[in-house]
Amino acid sequence: MALFRFGQPPSVIGLDIGSGAIKAVELQPAGKGFRVAAYASEPVPPGSIGEGSIRDPEGVARAIRAALARGGFRGRDVCVSLSGNAVIVKKIVLPVMTPGELADSIVWEAEQYIPFDVQDVNLDYQILDPGTGPDSRGSMEVLLVAAKKDRTAEYAAVVEAAGRTPVVVDVDAFALQNAYEANYGLDGSAVVVLMNAGASAVNVNILQDGRSVFTRDISVGGNAYRDALQRELGVGPEDADRLKRGGRVEGVPEDEVPPVLRAVTEQIMLEVQKTFDFFKATTAADRIDRVVLSGGASQVDGFAAIVQSRFGIPAEPLDPFRHIVWDSARLGCDASEAAPVAAVAVGLGLRRAGDR
Ligand SMILES: Nc1ncnc2c1ncn2[C@@H]1O[C@H](COP(=O)(O)OP(=O)(O)OP(=O)(O)O)[C@@H](O)[C@H]1O
Ligand SMILES: [Mg+2]
Repeated sequence: MALFRFGQPPSVIGLDIGSGAIKAVELQPAGKGFRVAAYASEPVPPGSIGEGSIRDPEGVARAIRAALARGGFRGRDVCVSLSGNAVIVKKIVLPVMTPGELADSIVWEAEQYIPFDVQDVNLDYQILDPGTGPDSRGSMEVLLVAAKKDRTAEYAAVVEAAGRTPVVVDVDAFALQNAYEANYGLDGSAVVVLMNAGASAVNVNILQDGRSVFTRDISVGGNAYRDALQRELGVGPEDADRLKRGGRVEGVPEDEVPPVLRAVTEQIMLEVQKTFDFFKATTAADRIDRVVLSGGASQVDGFAAIVQSRFGIPAEPLDPFRHIVWDSARLGCDASEAAPVAAVAVGLGLRRAGDR
């Protein structure tokens, strides 16, 4: 706890290095909350990030530099996140022990649960249930997070190449949760699915009692729409992108686009269905109360409606600026433009250097 601070507490730049685009957010304390001091997004060169790995570090570093310069970012310290197969998140059950005992034994415990050499990962964990409550059966629940060191190093390296200092490495799904909680609070016992549909993956984080009870990254996203439009309608990648965003392309009859988009959304929903089935089969939860959507691909026409009708659950967009002040005049665009893609970056921007 800080009783007094000299000047502003250090803030970090939340930098979401997506496979489609970089999103960067810098937040400043304002009153009891925050305001957006800087925001920018910038596409990364096509193919420069694949399967969670940075294939063209120079291209990605250039995009980061461009985004930070254009947004007028002043901070040096950066928080980034990993996703997909770069991280493993597992809920594990252990005999009740003290935090000190847990710290001493976590590496040994992790060896049983992680399919890699523990030398090759950075480990972190969080106690979900200390097992000291009235219905504890002598066991505690711990969320174990392992990030591959080589992937972590790749992300840190592009930040350094862009002239900034990486200080925190987080996980997309948890940054998403952080942004959600900052704007919506904790809603009791509701089971809430956070679904962030990006260019190449859909991050799913299921919350109950304000805790993450299940996470999964599904490896399909906005790129699948582009690929299907190219294949089915014989258009190039740029036209496919325009069509995906609801734009018109000469020579493409308007009524041919929606069925292609719908088919891809249904295909994504098949994967989401598997995730929900697995979630219900492996946790005590038997229902989902609502889905909160974010990510560029969730903007595809009909996406939210299909989630809602297929699962019979209300689906609404996540507004990462619901309780964060956005000054359109200063930032040069409306919050509504940034909101659909900014959730992960906002969640990262809320972290402080020194956070775990
Ligand atoms: N208005 C829109 N309508 C439809 N699709 C959109 C829209 N805006 C962005 N997209 C698509 O969303 C994707 C980018 O979204 P986002 O920035 O959330 O992904 P990312 O974080 O870069 O990707 P990932 O997390 O999968 O690595 C791209 O496929 C892009 O074409
Ligand atoms: Mg993303």
